[in-house]
Amino acid sequence: MIKRVRKAVFPVAGQGTRFLPATKALPKEMLPIVDRPLIQYAVDEAREAGIEEFIFVTGRNKSAIEDHFDRSFELERSLNEKGNAEALKAIRDIVLEPGQITYTRQQSPLGLGHAVWCARHQVGNEPFAILLADDLILARPGCLKQMIEVHAEIGGNLVAVEDVPREQTDRYGILDVTTDDGRIAGAKGLVEKPKPADAPSTLSIIGRYILQPDVFDELNRAKPGAGGEIQLTDAMARTIPRIAFHGLRFDGKRYDCGNRAGFLEASIAFALDRPDMQERVRAMLTKYV
Ligand code: UTP
Repeated sequence: MIKRVRKAVFPVAGQGTRFLPATKALPKEMLPIVDRPLIQYAVDEAREAGIEEFIFVTGRNKSAIEDHFDRSFELERSLNEKGNAEALKAIRDIVLEPGQITYTRQQSPLGLGHAVWCARHQVGNEPFAILLADDLILARPGCLKQMIEVHAEIGGNLVAVEDVPREQTDRYGILDVTTDDGRIAGAKGLVEKPKPADAPSTLSIIGRYILQPDVFDELNRAKPGAGGEIQLTDAMARTIPRIAFHGLRFDGKRYDCGNRAGFLEASIAFALDRPDMQERVRAMLTKYV
């Protein structure tokens, strides 16, 4: 029987060097797109998908994330006194039930694989989701919800994938594809950041995963890979002989908010998607272009 996905891991312990100096004291995941920090979009996507337990892998300088998902009694009282119901709802909606969020710490940023491994005790022996907040996805229904529906049918390991231009394969984990029906692709191998000439395909993994807990066995014995980091891709690849691996071409658009241009594009796209802003933003854009 295919077990339901109830838990999600949010690795937020990276250094965000591409956004310095903005990320010197502020976590990258707290950078806002329109009026919500990146991490809130990811948490909302997970809530919509039916996730019940939210596991954050944090590091130094990340207390703003914990505060963001906590209650703020002073602010609530002050908004209440001013009768600002809209703002009050906006901050109350963020807060999850007590005990639904847990935090674990990655003491040093040794890579995404290592960050996920830090959550092994919280995840335990069940399939779980991983969401990277800097991959922001505009999709209805949300990307993780689409994935959970497919996972309920096919099980195994499932990641969100996207076709990228061949010259960009060295930024992603790439699938070595065996089957492909245009929506779901099966893989017999994975390669982390291959040079364009060596890439087995152009189908790349983006920041949404549903994995079986077996990946922790592989992470337990993982050695540093590309860039000297413990790579999640390598650990997932080693499970392929035992566990089916699929990529889902989700319905929606992904914005890479880990780089400056992608972040700016996401700000524009999300503002244009907001009924309360789109008209003004469109007029503004015409003025500049
Ligand atoms: P990135 O590869 O974007 O790294 O991580 P980064 O450190 O955040 O950013 P740059 O490259 O220095 O600008 C992808 C995701 O994995 C998390 C990050 O927080 C981000 O959500 N991560 C990465 C960790 O939690 N720990 C790590 O050791 C590395």
